[in-house]
Amino acid sequence: MIRINNLTFRYPDGTLALDSVDLNIHKGEFVAIVGKNGCGKSTILRHMNGLLLPTEGSVIVKGMDTSDTFSILKIRHTAGMVFQDPGSQFIGMTVEEDVAFGPENLALPAEKIQFLVNRSLRGVGMLEHRNHTPRTLSGGQKQKVAFASVLAMEPEVILFDEVTSMLDSNTRKDILDIIKKLHKNGTTVVYVTHRLEELVYADRLVVMDKGRIIHDGNPRAILSKENPVSFGFDLPPVIELARRLADENIIDSSLLPLSKEELREVLCQLM
Ligand SMILES: Nc1ncnc2c1ncn2[C@@H]1O[C@H](COP(=O)(O)OP(=O)(O)O)[C@@H](O)[C@H]1O
Ligand SMILES: [Mg+2]
Repeated sequence: MIRINNLTFRYPDGTLALDSVDLNIHKGEFVAIVGKNGCGKSTILRHMNGLLLPTEGSVIVKGMDTSDTFSILKIRHTAGMVFQDPGSQFIGMTVEEDVAFGPENLALPAEKIQFLVNRSLRGVGMLEHRNHTPRTLSGGQKQKVAFASVLAMEPEVILFDEVTSMLDSNTRKDILDIIKKLHKNGTTVVYVTHRLEELVYADRLVVMDKGRIIHDGNPRAILSKENPVSFGFDLPPVIELARRLADENIIDSSLLPLSKEELREVLCQLM
């Protein structure tokens, strides 16, 4: 679905943000990308829908090269991006207008636009706010509307850049649950995060460091072998305990619990 070949990227000031990276993301995967601040997560994500173009190497999205100017609209349509701070993205006077903006640009029939807007707002639990002004919404609600705007474009891939970092834990859970459901329905998900608890739904974990990929594989296998503190995570007590239990062979490391719920389940099975 997304093929990154030998990608090197320098910002105009010369900063080397990505250094010869190879990464293939397959259709239907839920890939989480983690790593310390400044390791290149946002930079690689922005290459996946052509917001940034390679200094060297190539990025191919569903067969289209992001460096090919003629493909860029189609690429943006294929891979939608949800950002950390949705505040700056609003263009419409109402939530509904805002979400309709993308599909309107695709020149879809009015009925289809209305259908997509309603379905997307319902999907994120914001349908009853459709006539509100985006400015008056809470941070979490704004993030849900930004998310709905991407959904309304029916992208095959959604790229999430630390979208829950400014949200409270309830809203975080809402958003994660929506993403999990989308993934179940076939959407390919690339999810940048710095919260370990959010890896529960990922079927693949990519760890970056200084513009390179240092681990790529099953999240539980990686987290049971490597100390996540070295990836820039605070180690949550649950995972610290789970790692110790796995070290002592009390639990199977391939089933390493990543959340309180999962730990409870694993412990119950041991009783
Ligand atoms: N607009 C920019 N201009 C110059 N350097 C940048 C810019 N954006 C990011 N960087 C640098 O590129 C590197 C990777 O940044 P980024 O992809 O934002 O990392 P992450 O998302 O993992 O925190 C860092 O060294 C960062 O300082
Ligand atoms: Mg970032």
